[in-house]
Amino acid sequence: MFNIVIFGPPGSGKGTQSVKLKEKYRLVHLSTGDILRDAMAKKTPLGVKAQEYMGKGELVPDEDVIGMLMGVLDENMDSNGFIFDGFPRTEKQALFLKKNLEKRDTMIHALLTLEVKREELIKRLIDRGKQSGRSDDKLSVIENRINVYHDQTAPVIEFYQKLDKYYPVAGMGTIDEIFDRLCGVIEEVK
Ligand code: AP5
Repeated sequence: MFNIVIFGPPGSGKGTQSVKLKEKYRLVHLSTGDILRDAMAKKTPLGVKAQEYMGKGELVPDEDVIGMLMGVLDENMDSNGFIFDGFPRTEKQALFLKKNLEKRDTMIHALLTLEVKREELIKRLIDRGKQSGRSDDKLSVIENRINVYHDQTAPVIEFYQKLDKYYPVAGMGTIDEIFDRLCGVIEEVK
């Protein structure tokens, strides 16, 4: 298996690039944000709980997100590998992922971090908010999501730096330019 984490602040292009990477490398795209939004739409107990946090731009508690992922890993162990998008977002989640991949004789091969300026993130998310219907795509919540990323999620970088798996990638430019940069790194580490 070949497993990557696509990492970066809200609006950095993780979802956009995951769709292209998934096709090129035939990987399973596992977006915790998409799974949580689906649970919210279905009003499951997890969805109802998650809505409280997501609407404010806060992280959903680790135990809920981890619990949600347990089955998903096993369902896809016969695949070429995973793109983890939006996960891990805390050190606890990173540790969970490491242990659970090791138990299944595999690992994260690279943490690809999209680097994008704050003003560009806000611009992209405000633009998307005009059509997305995402309750977290409004300015006050966007600001908080970016702050939460810096305070609670960015420390995950250090976790992967220690494992020698951290790869920063310039996330400004066209979608295709950024995709080429990501593929360049993947070809090196594969
Ligand atoms: P999640 O769904 O993961 O959202 P996010 O990290 O805030 O990221 P986005 O989806 O907003 O942005 P993205 O980086 O994917 O960029 P995208 O490609 O969409 O999480 C949402 C919430 O769920 C969290 O706040 C939290 O509450 C909860 N959650 C999720 N996972 C969790 C976890 N593990 N633990 C705890 N809580 C969790 O692009 C954004 C826009 O920019 C799009 O309109 C796109 O078309 C555009 N765009 C993309 N690339 C470019 C480009 N190069 N140039 C111009 N525009 C571009």
